[in-house]
Amino acid sequence: MAVPREQRNVFGEVAEAYERSRADYPAALLDLITGYATGTPAEVVEVGAGTGKGSALLRRLGVPLTCVEPDPAMAALLARRFTDDDLVSVVVDRFEDWRPPPGGVDLLASAQAWHWVDHTRRTGLAAEALTPDGVLAIFGHEYGFADAELRAAMDAVYQRHAPEIADLPGRPVHTRHPGAFDPQELRTAPGFTDVTHERVVTVVPYDTARYLTLLSTFSPHRMLPEQQRVRLHDALADLVDSHGGVVEHELTTGLWLARRRGPAVAGGS
Ligand SMILES: C[S@@+](CC[C@H](N)C(=O)[O-])C[C@H]1O[C@@H](n2cnc3c(N)ncnc32)[C@H](O)[C@@H]1O
Repeated sequence: MAVPREQRNVFGEVAEAYERSRADYPAALLDLITGYATGTPAEVVEVGAGTGKGSALLRRLGVPLTCVEPDPAMAALLARRFTDDDLVSVVVDRFEDWRPPPGGVDLLASAQAWHWVDHTRRTGLAAEALTPDGVLAIFGHEYGFADAELRAAMDAVYQRHAPEIADLPGRPVHTRHPGAFDPQELRTAPGFTDVTHERVVTVVPYDTARYLTLLSTFSPHRMLPEQQRVRLHDALADLVDSHGGVVEHELTTGLWLARRRGPAVAGGS
């Protein structure tokens, strides 16, 4: 029997395009993470590493990095990126099925992927994977637009060709998915404390061709029937061309940090 195609599993269909077109993560994130963690962790695990865009940032810490990624096509590019790198290992698995090392790790990170992990279990699994005082770092981009006029014109194209995803541009990523990340999960979780939010804003230009490649990697676009997706993308390409052939994405990279509660101190107040 055919396995139903799930939105969380569509990235591998376009792994090369994903690697070419998705935005990298700003180096400033790493300073925010190490500042919060008060130092360099001994070991990092990354959840949903994809082709390794978040991993490339985390690798700069210079400590062992385990990348957990269930999609074989994404994992193949990830492994290729880190060929001969003894500090990086790739595990082809879902986070829900992966087993943390005994004692846990002191940094667990996830770039643009936490919303795909089972939302009923992820906070508990993260707590189990971390050492006491270990840090959970969840980050990802919101692809906003620097030009409000272009953004409004794009909205009109979505309304016309794909109203079911018409609210996509600029809408925060955590509100769009079935497993949408809600920071309340962490604030109310007994295993975590010190929940903090940071953001870094950058502007990244995309020419029409690269912009279309980017759109082809967004899972709501991939879930559209092909003919509808082609009509939408053709109309968006015409629009971008008529605006000088460049889309300036205003990327807001959000970072959520939380600390695993340490063990209770006997007799402490
Ligand atoms: C939008 S991509 C993000 C990839 C990469 N971290 C980045 O920032 O470019 C989401 C990734 O999460 C992976 N994923 C989906 N479900 C997952 C799960 N249950 N556990 C771990 N990763 C998962 C997908 O295969 C995909 O590679």
